[in-house]
Amino acid sequence: MTYARIEIAPSILAANFAKLGDDVRVVEEAGADIIHVDVMDGHFVPNISLGIPVVASLRKATRLPLDVHLMIEQPELYIEDFIRAGGNRILVHQEATVHLDRALAMIRELGAEAGAAINPATPVGMLTEVLDKVDTVLVMTVNPGFGGQKFIPNTYEKIRQLNQMRARYNASFRIEVDGGVEPENTAELAQAGANTFVAGTSIFHTADPAAATRQLKKLATQALSQRA
Ligand code: DX5
Ligand code: ZN
Repeated sequence: MTYARIEIAPSILAANFAKLGDDVRVVEEAGADIIHVDVMDGHFVPNISLGIPVVASLRKATRLPLDVHLMIEQPELYIEDFIRAGGNRILVHQEATVHLDRALAMIRELGAEAGAAINPATPVGMLTEVLDKVDTVLVMTVNPGFGGQKFIPNTYEKIRQLNQMRARYNASFRIEVDGGVEPENTAELAQAGANTFVAGTSIFHTADPAAATRQLKKLATQALSQRA
């Protein structure tokens, strides 16, 4: 059984913030499915990136849905603001809140897709009790906080485990992978069960971001058809 279709999600963290609209347009025209927006607060992760006004501006610059990855403590305080600004899918970290169930319910009640994210050191079992309340599980394949890091191979096994849990519970959440995603690991990630491929460096730090977007999509789609 196959689940959700493939999505390529360019991460604007690697784009040029001074011409963000142009960079997003290039990947949108190349067939990107959703734009990944990394929000960092300098507490949950040791970096600060962008916030609500940037999401609101992006909302006007693209027709694609916005995938808002909240790497912030107490995400429940800001969920509503990010949805009102135009976020379509809101991803909160299991490690960032003691009220994950409540945060996920809040996202759905406000009309967005709910996603739960886990760091590389967090076992997938930490999400067992909320798998019926998520539209997406985001498996971090690097430690969150920075673009351009090396993919952590142990995370393949976590994706396989989630894929098995999805089948066992007859669930339909998508599996999203984020960090160090590149042409070299995309097919194996798709075969392991990944549906959504976040890619910053391997799209925006290439000579041709449009071609890079198309290549990732082709690799993932081909691998998925072999899995099915
Ligand atoms: C890392 C972010 C990622 C980042 C991925 O904390 O969550 O979305 O932009 O960047 P690359 O694709 O360069 O590893
Ligand atoms: Zn991210």
